Amino acid sequence: MTALGKLLRTTAFQLTLAYLLVFIVFAASLLAYFALNTRRLITEQITSTVLTEINGLREQYNQGGIRRLVIVVDLRSRRPGSSLYLVTTATGEGLAGNVGSLEPGVLDHPGWLETNYRRLEAPEGSEHRALAQIVQLTGGFRLLVGRDLEERERLYGIIANAGRWSFALVVILGLAGGFFVSRRVLNRIEAMTQTAQTIMAGDLAGRLPVAGTGDELDRLAEHLNAMLERIEALMRGLKEVSDNIAHDLKTPLTRLRNRCEQALRGPAADSDYRAALETTIAESDELIRTFEALLMIARAESGQARDNMIEFDAAEIARDVGDLYEPLADEKGLSLTVDAPVAARVRGNRELVSQALANLVDNAIKYAGPNGKLNGAPAEIVVKAGNEGERIMLSVADRGPGIPDADRGRVVERFVRLEQSRSEPGSGLGLSLASAVARLHGGELRLEDNHPGLRSTIALPRAGPSVAG
Ligand SMILES: Nc1ncnc2c1ncn2[C@@H]1O[C@H](COP(=O)(O)OP(=O)(O)OP(=O)(O)O)[C@@H](O)[C@H]1O
Ligand SMILES: [Mg+2]
Repeated sequence: MTALGKLLRTTAFQLTLAYLLVFIVFAASLLAYFALNTRRLITEQITSTVLTEINGLREQYNQGGIRRLVIVVDLRSRRPGSSLYLVTTATGEGLAGNVGSLEPGVLDHPGWLETNYRRLEAPEGSEHRALAQIVQLTGGFRLLVGRDLEERERLYGIIANAGRWSFALVVILGLAGGFFVSRRVLNRIEAMTQTAQTIMAGDLAGRLPVAGTGDELDRLAEHLNAMLERIEALMRGLKEVSDNIAHDLKTPLTRLRNRCEQALRGPAADSDYRAALETTIAESDELIRTFEALLMIARAESGQARDNMIEFDAAEIARDVGDLYEPLADEKGLSLTVDAPVAARVRGNRELVSQALANLVDNAIKYAGPNGKLNGAPAEIVVKAGNEGERIMLSVADRGPGIPDADRGRVVERFVRLEQSRSEPGSGLGLSLASAVARLHGGELRLEDNHPGLRSTIALPRAGPSVAG
């Protein structure tokens, strides 16, 4: 498309054309209304003065006969101005007046008429238009009184001229304005298209230009820029996560590989190979678990897991998880109690909420181990399910070392493990999943001080009526 074609096709230009048309129609009707009204007014004025004059002259005739009328008309004819007078006999012979010639047969029709005439002293061919009244006087005489219409025609001419000029001016200015506005709009769109192209080429840092006029294009650009900002942040996050994953999986995979290599190096007994294979399997299992946890977090974060939402009792989950982990707690010399006396109804993904609570219990058992004992009594882990306002709470409280205030924000990130817990197995994904699951359900994961120990709570929006407890 040519540059001009592009310009003519812009909405701005087409709008200008539409406005121009509307304006021209409006201005033309205004001028026409003005012209017609002026014409009517002038005609009315002429008629009324002519009528008054005729009445006056008729009176003169009635009082003084034709002699007096001729004298008066003669007198008035000499006055300068646009008034016309003519007195004739019944045969049409002129007696007095300032009319030289009329259209033939005009005098035979009394009443109002518009006719062409020539003044007495005017040269041949200089005809004008006039509005006149012709009356038949007693005795066969005829009287014509009228006015030259030149003034009216001139006014008409002026208005028509004004109309033509304004039309030309409006069209020129309108088109010029349309071109100017469309070019401006087109230039801005062109700049946006160019930025979009650089962004598509991979430069996510590009932003659409904002002119600062606050118009609709600016608003569009601002919104698109906000969207780009968000996309860039998401891409950065994604890159960070995949970098983390790659980095954190590389270590165990390298370890696995080195162990195999070591087993193969030099002479070894069958039992050594068996031992090496067994550790390899154990480490592979650990890796698979890590992958599963990562997939589960991704599923929770993407909102994909929303498809499996059902209504269930979180208290039941607390009891199930308690039963599942009791032997493990016993083994570590910890007492595990479940406090879930009443129903806590939630709408959500049952499997994910169970896994999230299991992760919290798993942490409590792992990190509040033997050194968490107080006064020799077995350290206690309490798993609790209850209602609190519009939320239900699933909490796990232990008497272990807890998590320092400063670290509570970052332990929910993927692969973050505190220095103090390096001796325990784990990949640092348990709390990430718990937090992602809570957010998936419109809730949150809270980590608080249990004085001493840690109390981790999954707070979720309640489904159904509130139950005391
Ligand atoms: N109950 C707790 N007491 C003390 N520290 C805790 C407790 N729970 C979590 N932590 C700290 O938070 C870190 C992150 O916990 P998270 O559950 O995410 O990972 P992990 O337990 O190390 O590994 P994973 O759960 O993937 O097996 C832990 O490494 C530990 O340092
Ligand atoms: Mg854990």
